[in-house]
Amino acid sequence: MKNLVVLTGAGISAESGVQTFRAADGLWEDHRIEDVATPEAFRRNPELVHRFYNARRAKLRDVKPNDAHLALARLEKDWLGAFLLITQNVDDLHERAGSHQLVHMHGELLKIFCEVCEKRQKHADDLGLGDSCPNCHSKRMRPDIVWFGEMPYHMEMIYDALAKADVFISIGTSGLVYPAAGFSKLASRAHRIEVNLQGTSVSPSFHEHRLGRASEEVPSLVTELLQKN
Ligand code: OAD
Repeated sequence: MKNLVVLTGAGISAESGVQTFRAADGLWEDHRIEDVATPEAFRRNPELVHRFYNARRAKLRDVKPNDAHLALARLEKDWLGAFLLITQNVDDLHERAGSHQLVHMHGELLKIFCEVCEKRQKHADDLGLGDSCPNCHSKRMRPDIVWFGEMPYHMEMIYDALAKADVFISIGTSGLVYPAAGFSKLASRAHRIEVNLQGTSVSPSFHEHRLGRASEEVPSLVTELLQKN
């Protein structure tokens, strides 16, 4: 039985209508993404950062999983070996498609984090400076998102799964943001497959490339993998 690890990025949710980070000009209201997704930006201009994440959280109500998310849920259900889905995405489309063995290494839009008591809670509505922590009542709530310069979540479990992986699949990620960009090298004993619209800066570290839209390439790849299961 083989160990399978899948990494997803913004490209898997693009066809659901969730904007990727580096498409087009990569700007949001004339701000570079890197200027809103940092702890410094949150200290400097918390209203702006809340507005950015409130807009993205609200957008989740208008989108739904596509065939690529659904295919990965099918893969998890029918795969006979160990399975781990690592997503860099902060949307909830994998959960809504039926994935369970899933870690959000960059956090989740539908969770908030209290900087004082460090408790996380589910939160589906807008978040603002006036909101207080339901646990300790302080007013230091932030989106539960890993910002640039912060340590991604679940890294110990991720490194362990990558070291043991027999198959590693990377879907819809530009390979520009570390540590995720280094995962293909860490899955050193795995057969490595990249699914993307185009080549990326990490393409040379994969054995196989499926060039095309995730909603088409992922279902056919999943069918092939399950036939060899
Ligand atoms: P990017 O926006 O950097 O890259 C999206 C990738 O998806 C690109 O390589 C596209 O070619 C590809 N793509 C787009 N549409 C696709 C489709 N329909 N099918 C297949 N591939 C498609 O997004 P990420 O690599 O996920 O971090 O970005 C990584 C991290 O940078 C994000 O998690 C976020 C951001 O800053 C944080 O917020 C901490």
